[in-house]
Amino acid sequence: MKIIVTGGAGFIGGNFVYYELKNHADEIICLDKLTYAGNLETLAEAQKNSKFKFVRGDIADREAVYKLFEEVKPDIVVNFAAESHVDRSIEEPELFLRTNIIGTSVLLDACKKFGIKRFHQVSTDEVYGDLPLDRPDLFFTETTNLHTSSPYSASKAAADLLVQAYQRTYQIPATISRCSNNYGPYHFPEKLIPLMIINALHEKKLPVYGKGINVRDWLYVEDHCAAIDLIIRRGTVGEVYNIGGHNERTNLEVVKTILKILGKSEDLIEFVTDRKGHDQRYAIDPTKISNELGWTPQTKFDNGIKKTVAWYLDNRAWWEKIISGEYKNYYAKMYDNR
Ligand code: NAD
Ligand code: TYD
Repeated sequence: MKIIVTGGAGFIGGNFVYYELKNHADEIICLDKLTYAGNLETLAEAQKNSKFKFVRGDIADREAVYKLFEEVKPDIVVNFAAESHVDRSIEEPELFLRTNIIGTSVLLDACKKFGIKRFHQVSTDEVYGDLPLDRPDLFFTETTNLHTSSPYSASKAAADLLVQAYQRTYQIPATISRCSNNYGPYHFPEKLIPLMIINALHEKKLPVYGKGINVRDWLYVEDHCAAIDLIIRRGTVGEVYNIGGHNERTNLEVVKTILKILGKSEDLIEFVTDRKGHDQRYAIDPTKISNELGWTPQTKFDNGIKKTVAWYLDNRAWWEKIISGEYKNYYAKMYDNR
């Protein structure tokens, strides 16, 4: 089979490329625009595999997408390509609408025009909005209403609705997965876990938003890849699958765990102005994917976070290059005088 993986030079897409090359004999074609978040160094090992091909291109560029579909004739498309950072979406919403909504619609049009066995949309639990902190009994299920808080999550929800509309109207054989927060290798330094690891290593302040009591449901990235792999091969067309491993932690707990692993002082923690519209708690109920496809997460948080810290220690060249470039300006804009 031929699988187009969009956004494969990013965090989860890159991990998915490796997961597929390791576990199956399919041809993988990565389509990625290489935005600030895309990194060819993430794919350096994959480039040595004859079953892998990289194509630079924008999912919102209709001509380029049609050309690729005509050439490759993919069996499956897995759409990871997106603008993915909530804080950036608060600063610059329009870019999120273009990539996340228009980009998804162009891919769907290409599936309609050229035919496809499966289109899989990689979505997020953030489309459900948030849960209150004082109701630990509540979880997101696949039937929870979409109720978004940020321009990022609104754009992802719009894309999900388009996928469902194309499935119903044009019979595009589509599936959607909505996963909780991922962590692991190749995570871009702007996100909570890598940002805190890297700052702690430099003895720089760790900027915790608000009181640090917001809760995220953390999943090791390889477990997410395994879930998507099951859905594209055995999942039912037209269905949504929630993915999460019941690993809820407050941000402060996560930051303190990282400091402990690195043997650094909690004095590095600095409470800063909260994110606008900050979602309080995310928590996934993964019963459906577990019952239907037999998926269960393999990596517990305590082990996964140690592996992740070790990866950042062993792969300094990967992130040092990123933080010495344009990222410096981003960091100054978002955190100086916050
Ligand atoms: P990322 O920001 O690390 O990577 C995104 C990739 O998409 C980059 O390689 C970038 O170059 C590429 N890209 C951006 N715009 C593009 C365009 N117009 N055309 C082609 N490529 C483009 O993101 P990530 O964290 O790996 O997330 C991947 C997907 O998973 C996203 O759709 C995101 O919404 C979803 N998701 C992420 C998480 C998480 O915790 N990171 C959780 C659930 C769902
Ligand atoms: P993030 O990694 O941006 O993921 P998301 O917003 O998609 O959940 O943030 C995770 C949590 O960490 C979120 O509650 C915001 C918080 N956070 C901080 O407290 N400080 C930071 O510097 C960052 C980037 C995030």
